Amino acid sequence: MQPSSMIIAVDGPAASGKGTLSRRIARKFGLAYLDTGSLYRGVALMALEAGIDLADIPALAQLTQEISSDIWQDPRIREPGVGDAASKIASIAEVRAGLLAFQRDFANQPPGAVLDGRDIGTVVCPDADVKLFVTASEDERARRRHKELVAAGKTVTFEEVKADILRRDGRDASRNTAPLAQSEDAHLLDTTNLDIDAAMSAAVDLINQAIDAKNGTRS
Ligand code: CDP
Repeated sequence: MQPSSMIIAVDGPAASGKGTLSRRIARKFGLAYLDTGSLYRGVALMALEAGIDLADIPALAQLTQEISSDIWQDPRIREPGVGDAASKIASIAEVRAGLLAFQRDFANQPPGAVLDGRDIGTVVCPDADVKLFVTASEDERARRRHKELVAAGKTVTFEEVKADILRRDGRDASRNTAPLAQSEDAHLLDTTNLDIDAAMSAAVDLINQAIDAKNGTRS
């Protein structure tokens, strides 16, 4: 039986497939889903559109309070340039702090939620019931993201996509505030050689084990 409330934290580097996996997990377990990267991308898009300097901390912090679902659901947030700007503003502590309450409130809604990002298991939901760290080789991640962008009609080369991913990963992992990192209690899921069904099956096994453990400690 599923616990009355359940939080699943899914972290990992760029284009690791955590979004697709998280969406499927949310559907299977009847949980809400939040792609936290879309919040950072949304703030970046607002800043770029308003001509705000990406080093203007007070103005960026203000944007975190103005962001709405219109912005984080805007398809333009998927442009590689917006992703790059997102990873720049994501290193600013005030921006991260400004987006924290929304993410925590989202996570705590009944009957629970799946959140994916970089710092969900470490900072946003350190007490999550299940933590997954989803990764894949650099080439495989670049291949998947390149395919996605081409399918969306973008003209971009594999090399450009790979360079973008590596640049963002480097920035995300080396920043001082909430860097991309595998939480000590997170399960590593390397999907380099797994298709989405196989990755999903591995994730479901881990989640079911966690549910059993949680029910066991309650009875
Ligand atoms: O989809 P992809 O893996 O390319 O990236 P994303 O999840 O949409 O995140 C875009 C950028 O937002 C990342 O490169 C991070 O810099 C930042 N981000 C973050 O710092 N913390 C999160 N929880 C989620 C995203």
